[in-house]
Amino acid sequence: MHHFEYRDGVLHAEELSIERLAAEVGTPFYCYSTATLERHFRVFRDAFSDTDSLVCYAIKSNSNIAVIKTLAELGSGMDVVSEGELRRARAAGVPGERIIFSGVGKTAEEMQYGLAEKILCFNVESEQELFLLNDVAGAMNVSAPVSMRINPDVDPKTHAKISTGKAEDKFGVPYRQARELYKQASQLNNIKITGVDMHIGSQITDLQPFGDAFQLLRDLVIELRGDGHNIDHIDLGGGLGIPYGNQENPVPLPDDYAAVVKTHTKDLGCRLLFEPGRMITGNSGILVTRVLFVKNAIDKSFTIVDAAMNDLIRPTLYEAYHDIIPVSDTRNSSPRQKTDIVGPVCETGDYLALDRSLPAFEQGDLLSVMTAGAYGATLSSQYNSRRLIPEILVKKDEYCVIRPRESYEDMLSREKIPSWFSET
Ligand code: LLP
Repeated sequence: MHHFEYRDGVLHAEELSIERLAAEVGTPFYCYSTATLERHFRVFRDAFSDTDSLVCYAIKSNSNIAVIKTLAELGSGMDVVSEGELRRARAAGVPGERIIFSGVGKTAEEMQYGLAEKILCFNVESEQELFLLNDVAGAMNVSAPVSMRINPDVDPKTHAKISTGKAEDKFGVPYRQARELYKQASQLNNIKITGVDMHIGSQITDLQPFGDAFQLLRDLVIELRGDGHNIDHIDLGGGLGIPYGNQENPVPLPDDYAAVVKTHTKDLGCRLLFEPGRMITGNSGILVTRVLFVKNAIDKSFTIVDAAMNDLIRPTLYEAYHDIIPVSDTRNSSPRQKTDIVGPVCETGDYLALDRSLPAFEQGDLLSVMTAGAYGATLSSQYNSRRLIPEILVKKDEYCVIRPRESYEDMLSREKIPSWFSET
Protein backbone atom coordinates (compact mmCIF):
# COMPACT_ATOMS: atom_id res chain seq x y z
CA MET A 1 0.00 0.00 0.00
CA HIS A 2 1.42 3.36 -1.03
CA HIS A 3 0.36 6.89 -1.91
CA PHE A 4 1.43 7.10 -5.56
CA GLU A 5 -1.75 7.11 -7.67
CA TYR A 6 -3.19 8.58 -10.82
CA ARG A 7 -5.37 11.62 -10.26
CA ASP A 8 -6.95 13.35 -13.26
CA GLY A 9 -4.81 11.17 -15.50
CA VAL A 10 -1.47 12.10 -13.92
CA LEU A 11 0.59 10.18 -11.37
CA HIS A 12 0.59 11.96 -8.04
CA ALA A 13 2.66 11.57 -4.90
CA GLU A 14 -0.03 12.12 -2.27
CA GLU A 15 -1.65 15.37 -3.54
CA LEU A 16 1.22 16.52 -5.74
CA SER A 17 1.46 16.01 -9.46
CA ILE A 18 4.64 14.28 -10.59
CA GLU A 19 4.46 16.32 -13.82
CA ARG A 20 4.62 19.48 -11.77
CA LEU A 21 7.56 18.17 -9.71
CA ALA A 22 9.40 17.19 -12.89
CA ALA A 23 8.85 20.65 -14.34
CA GLU A 24 10.07 22.38 -11.19
CA VAL A 25 12.99 20.12 -10.21
CA GLY A 26 14.02 18.52 -13.50
CA THR A 27 14.61 14.82 -14.04
CA PRO A 28 15.70 12.33 -12.87
CA PHE A 29 14.76 12.52 -9.19
CA TYR A 30 13.70 10.39 -6.25
CA CYS A 31 10.35 11.23 -4.70
CA TYR A 32 9.28 9.94 -1.27
CA SER A 33 5.84 10.02 0.34
CA THR A 34 5.59 10.95 4.01
CA ALA A 35 2.20 9.26 4.42
CA THR A 36 3.60 5.99 3.05
CA LEU A 37 6.67 6.10 5.29
CA GLU A 38 4.49 6.76 8.31
CA ARG A 39 1.99 4.11 7.38
CA HIS A 40 4.62 1.40 6.95
CA PHE A 41 6.33 2.26 10.19
CA ARG A 42 3.01 2.16 12.06
CA VAL A 43 1.87 -1.12 10.51
CA PHE A 44 5.11 -2.78 11.54
CA ARG A 45 5.14 -1.28 15.02
CA ASP A 46 1.47 -1.99 15.64
CA ALA A 47 2.01 -5.66 14.83
CA PHE A 48 4.02 -5.72 18.07
CA SER A 49 1.90 -3.33 20.14
CA ASP A 50 1.20 -6.11 22.65
CA THR A 51 4.92 -6.59 23.32
CA ASP A 52 7.73 -4.59 24.91
CA SER A 53 9.52 -3.65 21.71
CA LEU A 54 11.48 -1.01 19.83
CA VAL A 55 11.57 -0.73 16.05
CA CYS A 56 15.05 0.45 15.01
CA TYR A 57 14.77 1.57 11.39
CA ALA A 58 17.77 0.35 9.33
CA ILE A 59 19.14 3.65 8.05
CA LYS A 60 21.10 2.02 5.24
CA SER A 61 17.91 1.53 3.21
CA ASN A 62 17.34 5.28 2.93
CA SER A 63 19.58 7.54 4.94
CA ASN A 64 18.31 11.01 4.08
CA ILE A 65 18.02 12.86 7.39
CA ALA A 66 14.52 14.07 6.50
CA VAL A 67 13.42 10.44 6.16
CA ILE A 68 15.14 9.57 9.43
CA LYS A 69 13.44 12.54 11.11
CA THR A 70 10.01 11.51 9.78
CA LEU A 71 10.39 8.11 11.42
CA ALA A 72 12.08 9.43 14.55
CA GLU A 73 9.08 11.69 15.17
CA LEU A 74 6.94 8.55 15.37
CA GLY A 75 9.25 7.17 18.05
CA SER A 76 11.39 4.96 15.86
CA GLY A 77 14.81 3.85 17.01
CA MET A 78 17.63 3.48 14.48
CA ASP A 79 19.94 0.70 13.38
CA VAL A 80 23.25 2.12 12.15
CA VAL A 81 26.27 0.44 10.59
CA SER A 82 28.81 3.28 10.49
CA GLU A 83 29.74 6.50 12.22
CA GLY A 84 28.25 8.32 9.24
CA GLU A 85 24.85 6.72 9.83
CA LEU A 86 25.14 7.37 13.56
CA ARG A 87 25.85 11.03 12.83
CA ARG A 88 22.81 11.15 10.55
CA ALA A 89 20.62 9.69 13.31
CA ARG A 90 21.92 12.23 15.80
CA ALA A 91 21.49 15.06 13.27
CA ALA A 92 17.83 14.03 12.97
CA GLY A 93 17.53 14.29 16.76
CA VAL A 94 17.43 10.58 17.62
CA PRO A 95 18.72 10.04 21.17
CA GLY A 96 21.54 7.53 21.69
CA GLU A 97 19.30 5.33 23.81
CA ARG A 98 17.27 4.52 20.70
CA ILE A 99 20.25 3.63 18.50
CA ILE A 100 21.85 0.23 17.93
CA PHE A 101 25.14 -0.25 16.09
CA SER A 102 25.38 -3.25 13.74
CA GLY A 103 28.07 -4.24 11.26
CA VAL A 104 30.91 -6.69 10.90
CA GLY A 105 33.80 -4.20 10.81
CA LYS A 106 33.50 -1.35 13.29
CA THR A 107 36.63 0.72 13.85
CA ALA A 108 37.93 1.91 17.23
CA GLU A 109 36.91 5.48 16.30
CA GLU A 110 33.39 4.35 15.52
CA MET A 111 33.17 2.49 18.83
CA GLN A 112 34.41 5.58 20.64
CA TYR A 113 31.78 7.74 19.00
CA GLY A 114 29.03 5.22 19.77
CA LEU A 115 30.08 5.06 23.41
CA ALA A 116 30.25 8.85 23.66
CA GLU A 117 26.71 9.01 22.29
CA LYS A 118 25.60 6.41 24.88
CA ILE A 119 23.92 4.16 22.33
CA LEU A 120 21.57 1.37 23.33
CA CYS A 121 23.68 -1.55 22.12
CA PHE A 122 26.59 -2.72 19.99
CA ASN A 123 25.84 -5.83 17.96
CA VAL A 124 29.19 -7.60 18.11
CA GLU A 125 30.17 -10.04 15.36
CA SER A 126 33.55 -11.51 16.35
CA GLU A 127 35.89 -12.21 19.25
CA GLN A 128 38.39 -9.58 18.10
CA GLU A 129 35.65 -6.96 17.84
CA LEU A 130 34.58 -7.81 21.39
CA PHE A 131 38.11 -7.35 22.74
CA LEU A 132 38.64 -4.07 20.88
CA LEU A 133 35.32 -2.73 22.16
CA ASN A 134 36.35 -3.69 25.69
CA ASP A 135 39.64 -1.82 25.28
CA VAL A 136 38.00 1.27 23.81
CA ALA A 137 35.35 1.32 26.56
CA GLY A 138 38.07 0.77 29.19
CA ALA A 139 40.05 3.77 27.94
CA MET A 140 36.90 5.87 28.23
CA ASN A 141 36.10 4.39 31.63
CA VAL A 142 32.65 3.26 30.56
CA SER A 143 30.87 -0.01 29.99
CA ALA A 144 29.78 -1.06 26.47
CA PRO A 145 26.31 -2.63 26.16
CA VAL A 146 26.62 -5.66 23.93
CA SER A 147 24.65 -8.35 22.19
CA MET A 148 26.33 -10.93 19.96
CA ARG A 149 25.07 -11.31 16.44
CA ILE A 150 24.51 -15.01 15.94
CA ASN A 151 24.86 -16.72 12.58
CA PRO A 152 22.32 -19.55 12.70
CA ASP A 153 23.30 -21.15 9.37
CA VAL A 154 19.77 -20.85 8.01
CA ASP A 155 19.11 -20.30 4.30
CA PRO A 156 16.90 -17.21 3.99
CA LYS A 157 16.02 -18.14 0.38
CA THR A 158 16.81 -14.75 -1.07
CA HIS A 159 19.31 -13.40 -3.61
CA ALA A 160 22.83 -14.68 -2.83
CA LYS A 161 24.20 -11.15 -2.46
CA ILE A 162 21.80 -10.28 0.34
CA SER A 163 21.82 -13.50 2.33
CA THR A 164 23.56 -13.05 5.69
CA GLY A 165 22.51 -16.00 7.84
CA LYS A 166 24.29 -18.91 6.20
CA ALA A 167 27.54 -20.36 7.56
CA GLU A 168 29.45 -19.20 4.48
CA ASP A 169 28.27 -15.58 4.88
CA LYS A 170 30.75 -13.27 6.64
CA PHE A 171 28.25 -12.20 9.27
CA GLY A 172 27.87 -13.04 12.93
CA VAL A 173 29.29 -15.56 15.33
CA PRO A 174 28.71 -19.23 14.48
CA TYR A 175 25.83 -20.54 16.54
CA ARG A 176 27.96 -23.24 18.14
CA GLN A 177 30.61 -20.74 19.30
CA ALA A 178 28.12 -18.32 20.85
CA ARG A 179 28.09 -19.67 24.41
CA GLU A 180 31.88 -19.59 24.58
CA LEU A 181 31.95 -15.98 23.37
CA TYR A 182 29.34 -14.93 25.92
CA LYS A 183 31.50 -16.58 28.59
CA GLN A 184 34.51 -14.57 27.45
CA ALA A 185 32.42 -11.40 27.35
CA SER A 186 31.24 -11.91 30.91
CA GLN A 187 34.88 -11.89 32.04
CA LEU A 188 35.65 -8.52 30.44
CA ASN A 189 35.51 -5.49 32.74
CA ASN A 190 34.09 -2.99 30.28
CA ILE A 191 31.50 -5.12 28.52
CA LYS A 192 27.93 -5.38 29.69
CA ILE A 193 25.96 -8.23 28.15
CA THR A 194 22.41 -7.08 27.42
CA GLY A 195 21.01 -9.30 24.68
CA VAL A 196 21.29 -11.47 21.59
CA ASP A 197 21.01 -10.47 17.96
CA MET A 198 20.37 -12.00 14.54
CA HIS A 199 19.79 -10.79 10.98
CA ILE A 200 19.60 -13.53 8.36
CA GLY A 201 19.16 -11.55 5.14
CA SER A 202 17.05 -9.12 3.15
CA GLN A 203 13.96 -9.32 0.90
CA ILE A 204 12.87 -12.53 2.60
CA THR A 205 9.43 -13.55 1.36
CA ASP A 206 9.10 -16.95 3.05
CA LEU A 207 8.41 -17.04 6.79
CA GLN A 208 9.93 -20.48 7.30
CA PRO A 209 13.59 -19.31 7.51
CA PHE A 210 12.58 -16.68 10.07
CA GLY A 211 10.81 -19.35 12.13
CA ASP A 212 13.81 -21.70 11.96
CA ALA A 213 16.24 -18.94 12.96
CA PHE A 214 14.06 -17.58 15.78
CA GLN A 215 13.65 -21.09 17.22
CA LEU A 216 17.44 -21.38 17.42
CA LEU A 217 17.73 -17.93 18.96
CA ARG A 218 15.13 -18.85 21.55
CA ASP A 219 17.03 -22.03 22.50
CA LEU A 220 20.19 -19.98 22.83
CA VAL A 221 18.55 -17.42 25.13
CA ILE A 222 17.49 -20.23 27.44
CA GLU A 223 20.99 -21.74 27.41
CA LEU A 224 22.68 -18.40 28.00
CA ARG A 225 20.42 -17.66 30.93
CA GLY A 226 21.26 -21.12 32.26
CA ASP A 227 24.92 -20.11 31.98
CA GLY A 228 24.13 -17.11 34.20
CA HIS A 229 24.02 -14.31 31.61
CA ASN A 230 21.63 -11.42 31.67
CA ILE A 231 19.64 -11.48 28.43
CA ASP A 232 17.25 -8.51 28.48
CA HIS A 233 16.59 -8.12 24.80
CA ILE A 234 16.39 -10.10 21.59
CA ASP A 235 17.19 -8.26 18.36
CA LEU A 236 15.50 -10.11 15.52
CA GLY A 237 17.05 -8.04 12.73
CA GLY A 238 15.23 -6.89 9.61
CA GLY A 239 14.73 -8.59 6.29
CA LEU A 240 10.98 -8.80 5.76
CA GLY A 241 10.40 -8.74 2.00
CA ILE A 242 8.03 -6.48 0.10
CA PRO A 243 6.08 -6.83 -3.17
CA TYR A 244 7.94 -5.50 -6.22
CA GLY A 245 5.20 -6.42 -8.64
CA ASN A 246 6.65 -9.67 -9.97
CA GLN A 247 6.04 -12.05 -7.07
CA GLU A 248 4.03 -15.16 -7.86
CA ASN A 249 2.80 -15.45 -4.28
CA PRO A 250 1.76 -12.63 -1.98
CA VAL A 251 4.52 -11.59 0.42
CA PRO A 252 3.88 -12.10 4.14
CA LEU A 253 2.34 -9.17 6.00
CA PRO A 254 3.87 -7.71 9.15
CA ASP A 255 1.12 -9.40 11.20
CA ASP A 256 2.08 -12.82 9.79
CA TYR A 257 5.73 -12.12 10.56
CA ALA A 258 4.78 -10.92 14.05
CA ALA A 259 2.93 -14.18 14.72
CA VAL A 260 6.14 -16.13 13.96
CA VAL A 261 8.19 -13.83 16.20
CA LYS A 262 5.73 -14.13 19.06
CA THR A 263 5.57 -17.93 18.85
CA HIS A 264 9.25 -18.06 19.69
CA THR A 265 9.59 -15.16 22.10
CA LYS A 266 6.36 -14.67 24.01
CA ASP A 267 7.33 -16.50 27.21
CA LEU A 268 10.92 -15.25 27.40
CA GLY A 269 10.20 -11.89 29.02
CA CYS A 270 12.64 -10.12 26.72
CA ARG A 271 12.34 -6.73 25.10
CA LEU A 272 12.18 -7.19 21.33
CA LEU A 273 14.25 -5.08 18.94
CA PHE A 274 13.74 -5.00 15.16
CA GLU A 275 15.82 -3.59 12.32
CA PRO A 276 13.47 -3.24 9.33
CA GLY A 277 14.65 -1.12 6.42
CA ARG A 278 13.11 -2.01 3.07
CA MET A 279 9.72 -2.79 4.60
CA ILE A 280 9.42 0.85 5.68
CA THR A 281 11.05 2.74 2.82
CA GLY A 282 10.76 0.50 -0.27
CA ASN A 283 7.24 1.34 -1.35
CA SER A 284 7.57 4.89 -0.05
CA GLY A 285 9.68 6.07 -2.96
CA ILE A 286 9.74 6.26 -6.75
CA LEU A 287 12.41 7.22 -9.26
CA VAL A 288 11.12 9.61 -11.91
CA THR A 289 12.91 9.66 -15.23
CA ARG A 290 12.30 11.07 -18.72
CA VAL A 291 12.58 9.27 -22.03
CA LEU A 292 15.48 10.72 -24.03
CA PHE A 293 15.22 8.54 -27.12
CA VAL A 294 13.44 5.49 -28.40
CA LYS A 295 15.65 3.32 -30.55
CA ASN A 296 14.09 0.57 -32.56
CA ALA A 297 16.86 -1.78 -33.57
CA ILE A 298 16.34 -5.00 -35.51
CA ASP A 299 13.97 -7.18 -33.46
CA LYS A 300 14.68 -5.07 -30.40
CA SER A 301 13.47 -1.85 -28.85
CA PHE A 302 15.49 0.31 -26.45
CA THR A 303 13.90 3.06 -24.42
CA ILE A 304 16.75 5.32 -23.37
CA VAL A 305 15.94 7.32 -20.25
CA ASP A 306 17.85 9.93 -18.26
CA ALA A 307 18.22 7.77 -15.11
CA ALA A 308 20.87 5.09 -15.10
CA MET A 309 22.51 2.32 -13.12
CA ASN A 310 24.42 4.89 -11.08
CA ASP A 311 21.06 6.24 -9.85
CA LEU A 312 19.40 2.84 -9.26
CA ILE A 313 21.75 -0.13 -9.34
CA ARG A 314 19.35 -2.78 -8.03
CA PRO A 315 18.21 -4.18 -11.40
CA THR A 316 21.72 -4.93 -12.57
CA LEU A 317 23.27 -5.78 -9.20
CA TYR A 318 20.58 -8.10 -7.85
CA GLU A 319 18.57 -8.83 -11.01
CA ALA A 320 15.86 -6.92 -9.18
CA TYR A 321 12.48 -6.24 -10.74
CA HIS A 322 10.89 -2.80 -10.39
CA ASP A 323 7.52 -1.95 -11.91
CA ILE A 324 7.74 0.91 -14.41
CA ILE A 325 4.68 2.99 -15.24
CA PRO A 326 4.04 6.10 -17.30
CA VAL A 327 3.39 9.31 -15.37
CA SER A 328 0.59 10.14 -17.80
CA ASP A 329 -2.20 7.58 -17.51
CA THR A 330 -3.24 8.07 -21.15
CA ARG A 331 0.03 6.42 -22.21
CA ASN A 332 -1.27 3.21 -20.60
CA SER A 333 -3.67 2.86 -23.51
CA SER A 334 -0.87 2.91 -26.13
CA PRO A 335 -0.18 -0.49 -27.71
CA ARG A 336 2.28 -2.53 -25.69
CA GLN A 337 5.63 -3.68 -26.92
CA LYS A 338 8.67 -5.34 -25.43
CA THR A 339 11.51 -2.97 -24.65
CA ASP A 340 14.65 -2.59 -22.57
CA ILE A 341 14.58 0.50 -20.38
CA VAL A 342 18.21 1.62 -20.37
CA GLY A 343 20.22 4.60 -19.18
CA PRO A 344 23.02 6.71 -20.67
CA VAL A 345 25.87 4.94 -18.82
CA CYS A 346 28.44 3.20 -20.97
CA GLU A 347 27.85 -0.35 -19.79
CA THR A 348 25.59 -3.06 -21.11
CA GLY A 349 24.59 -3.68 -17.48
CA ASP A 350 23.04 -0.22 -17.38
CA TYR A 351 19.34 -1.03 -17.40
CA LEU A 352 16.26 -0.50 -15.28
CA ALA A 353 14.24 -3.25 -17.00
CA LEU A 354 14.94 -5.88 -19.64
CA ASP A 355 12.57 -7.19 -22.28
CA ARG A 356 9.60 -5.71 -20.48
CA SER A 357 6.16 -5.49 -22.04
CA LEU A 358 5.21 -1.80 -21.68
CA PRO A 359 3.13 0.77 -23.52
CA ALA A 360 5.15 2.13 -26.45
CA PHE A 361 6.83 5.19 -24.96
CA GLU A 362 7.72 8.34 -26.87
CA GLN A 363 10.52 10.84 -26.57
CA GLY A 364 9.84 13.19 -23.64
CA ASP A 365 7.53 10.81 -21.72
CA LEU A 366 7.93 10.75 -17.96
CA LEU A 367 8.23 7.31 -16.34
CA SER A 368 8.05 6.25 -12.74
CA VAL A 369 10.18 3.39 -11.46
CA MET A 370 8.20 2.06 -8.52
CA THR A 371 9.33 0.74 -5.12
CA ALA A 372 12.60 2.64 -5.33
CA GLY A 373 12.61 4.12 -1.82
CA ALA A 374 14.90 1.46 -0.34
CA TYR A 375 18.49 0.96 -1.48
CA GLY A 376 17.97 3.39 -4.36
CA ALA A 377 19.50 6.75 -3.46
CA THR A 378 21.76 5.16 -0.83
CA LEU A 379 23.44 2.92 -3.40
CA SER A 380 23.79 5.63 -6.02
CA SER A 381 27.11 6.92 -7.30
CA GLN A 382 28.60 9.47 -9.67
CA TYR A 383 29.73 6.83 -12.17
CA ASN A 384 30.34 8.34 -15.61
CA SER A 385 30.62 11.67 -13.71
CA ARG A 386 26.87 11.90 -13.46
CA ARG A 387 25.65 14.17 -10.68
CA LEU A 388 23.79 12.72 -7.69
CA ILE A 389 20.10 13.32 -8.30
CA PRO A 390 17.66 15.18 -6.05
CA GLU A 391 15.56 13.58 -3.37
CA ILE A 392 12.15 15.10 -2.77
CA LEU A 393 9.89 14.48 0.20
CA VAL A 394 6.17 15.07 -0.29
CA LYS A 395 3.66 15.66 2.46
CA LYS A 396 0.11 16.08 1.21
CA ASP A 397 0.32 19.01 -1.25
CA GLU A 398 3.71 20.26 -0.06
CA TYR A 399 7.15 19.17 -1.10
CA CYS A 400 10.69 19.79 0.00
CA VAL A 401 13.88 19.10 -1.94
CA ILE A 402 15.59 17.20 0.85
CA ARG A 403 18.76 16.80 -1.20
CA PRO A 404 19.30 19.09 -4.18
CA ARG A 405 20.77 17.96 -7.45
CA GLU A 406 24.51 18.10 -7.12
CA SER A 407 26.13 20.92 -9.08
CA TYR A 408 29.11 20.36 -11.37
CA GLU A 409 31.05 22.70 -9.07
CA ASP A 410 30.25 20.36 -6.11
CA MET A 411 31.41 17.42 -8.12
CA LEU A 412 34.72 18.94 -9.15
CA SER A 413 35.50 20.90 -6.01
CA ARG A 414 36.41 17.86 -3.94
CA GLU A 415 39.26 16.89 -6.22
CA LYS A 416 42.67 18.48 -6.53
CA ILE A 417 45.38 18.86 -9.13
CA PRO A 418 48.77 18.21 -7.43
CA SER A 419 51.13 21.17 -7.12
CA TRP A 420 53.85 19.41 -9.14
CA PHE A 421 51.97 20.25 -12.33
CA SER A 422 52.73 23.93 -11.81
CA GLU A 423 56.39 23.44 -10.84
CA THR A 424 57.82 23.55 -14.36
N1 LLP B 1 19.98 -5.14 9.87
C1 LLP B 1 21.16 -5.47 9.32
C2 LLP B 1 22.26 -5.86 10.20
C3 LLP B 1 21.32 -5.42 7.93
O1 LLP B 1 22.49 -5.77 7.40
C4 LLP B 1 20.23 -5.04 7.11
C5 LLP B 1 20.36 -4.98 5.66
C6 LLP B 1 19.02 -4.68 7.74
C7 LLP B 1 18.93 -4.75 9.12
C8 LLP B 1 17.81 -4.21 6.98
O2 LLP B 1 17.32 -5.21 6.15
P1 LLP B 1 15.94 -4.97 5.37
O3 LLP B 1 14.82 -4.93 6.39
O4 LLP B 1 16.05 -3.71 4.64
O5 LLP B 1 15.83 -6.15 4.48
N2 LLP B 1 21.12 -3.41 -1.13
C9 LLP B 1 20.31 -4.61 -1.06
C10 LLP B 1 19.89 -4.93 0.36
C11 LLP B 1 21.05 -5.04 1.32
C12 LLP B 1 20.63 -5.32 2.73
C13 LLP B 1 21.76 -5.14 3.67
N3 LLP B 1 21.44 -5.30 5.05
C14 LLP B 1 19.11 -4.45 -1.99
O6 LLP B 1 18.97 -3.42 -2.63
O7 LLP B 1 18.31 -5.37 -2.10
